[in-house]
Amino acid sequence: MAVAYAIILIFLLAQSSSAAAANGKSEFGCYESIISFGDSLADTGNLLLLSPADNKPAAARPPYGRTFFHRPTGRFSDGRLVIDFIAQRFGLPFVPPYIGGQNGELRGGGVSKGVNFAVVGATALGYEFYEKLGFHNPVTNVSLGTQLDWFKRFLSTIPDGKKYLERSLVVVGEIGGNDYNHPLSQGATYDVIQSFAPAVVDYIGSTIQELIKLGVKTMLVPAIPPIGCLPVYLTQFKKSSTIRDYDPKTGCLNWLNEFARYHNKLLKKELNRIQELINPDQIDIIYADYYNAAMRFYLSPNEYGLSKKGILRACCGAGGPYNYNASAECGSSPATCCDDPSSFASWDGLHFTEAAYRLIAQGLFDGPYTTPRVKTTICPSISFL
Ligand SMILES: *[C@@H]1O[C@H](CO)[C@@H](O)[C@H](O)[C@H]1NC(C)=O
Ligand SMILES: *[C@@H]1O[C@H](CO)[C@@H](O)[C@H](O)[C@H]1NC(C)=O
Repeated sequence: MAVAYAIILIFLLAQSSSAAAANGKSEFGCYESIISFGDSLADTGNLLLLSPADNKPAAARPPYGRTFFHRPTGRFSDGRLVIDFIAQRFGLPFVPPYIGGQNGELRGGGVSKGVNFAVVGATALGYEFYEKLGFHNPVTNVSLGTQLDWFKRFLSTIPDGKKYLERSLVVVGEIGGNDYNHPLSQGATYDVIQSFAPAVVDYIGSTIQELIKLGVKTMLVPAIPPIGCLPVYLTQFKKSSTIRDYDPKTGCLNWLNEFARYHNKLLKKELNRIQELINPDQIDIIYADYYNAAMRFYLSPNEYGLSKKGILRACCGAGGPYNYNASAECGSSPATCCDDPSSFASWDGLHFTEAAYRLIAQGLFDGPYTTPRVKTTICPSISFL
């Protein structure tokens, strides 16, 4: 009986596998590896590994990592990021940082199940673009272009790169947030950041087109989150804001959220434009709406297990109306950590808690926040039979 079932199962698997192989997409819509680009919302350790011993980022110190990994890993959170929840959802290991030698080389006869090129502080456009405008990246000179170069180097070490990419899910971001974050923290106005948003989105778009040329078949492209709800900006713009600048439903800054929606609208349009240039049966470009996936919990924190009182306050910080102080950030000595990070959305004022990242990831997989909807089939393995 069991043998008969096994034979039928093998038959069905072979059928659907050849059908999927015919159109070049990953078999069963499942993935054997995850490749990630982006910034601190996705970095699983690259900045930490790139930094000299005497200049480690805050995420090298406790209480970073305290909820899940129980040690600092370089992730700017108390635990897992969206990319970690994506890996778990597909039954794959956490996506290791590219820097530091764990990258792509054959391990135990198989190809890497994932590699992460995301770097904390990275912008989409090259840092020279911002230097010319008088803005400085205080964190890193790595941009999306650098990450693409690393990716090409990585790909050249894979024996059957095209086949490998067919079975990979490539997560392009979140990226672009820092193209606005660094200038905003250095005095840029709405008009200034708006003036270069089209260039930021064009750059993301041309990177996606280059990835397609290299053989990538499935991409998830995240939007930027509602930055007007971040303690860092609520603190920075508190003095210059009047009651009319705040959304009465959430307490977030309207103009910054409006800007995030503007960037996201451009991004969505660019993805649609690219989708029209290619064969949709062969390539999936999936828009991941981090903005609205996060907006849910700002609108109804209690419904999502978060505290209404703490929703705009950082869990880890050194006081002030939003528990954020730029001269005493999480990971430095005056800052303290809240007792229950799982009831906060913001971890350190600029980045989300694991609880918030989990809600965003759930919104992508179970909610309506991917377009088209992302499929989440676990790759069948021999043990499955
Ligand atoms: C970025 O900085 C690193 C370390 O300071 C340096 O080695 C590298 O050449 C820089 N890259 C660019 C593109 O300037
Ligand atoms: C921010 O932290 C610095 C350094 O600890 C401190 O001197 C300053 O008073 C703090 N500012 C506020 C508004 O709490």
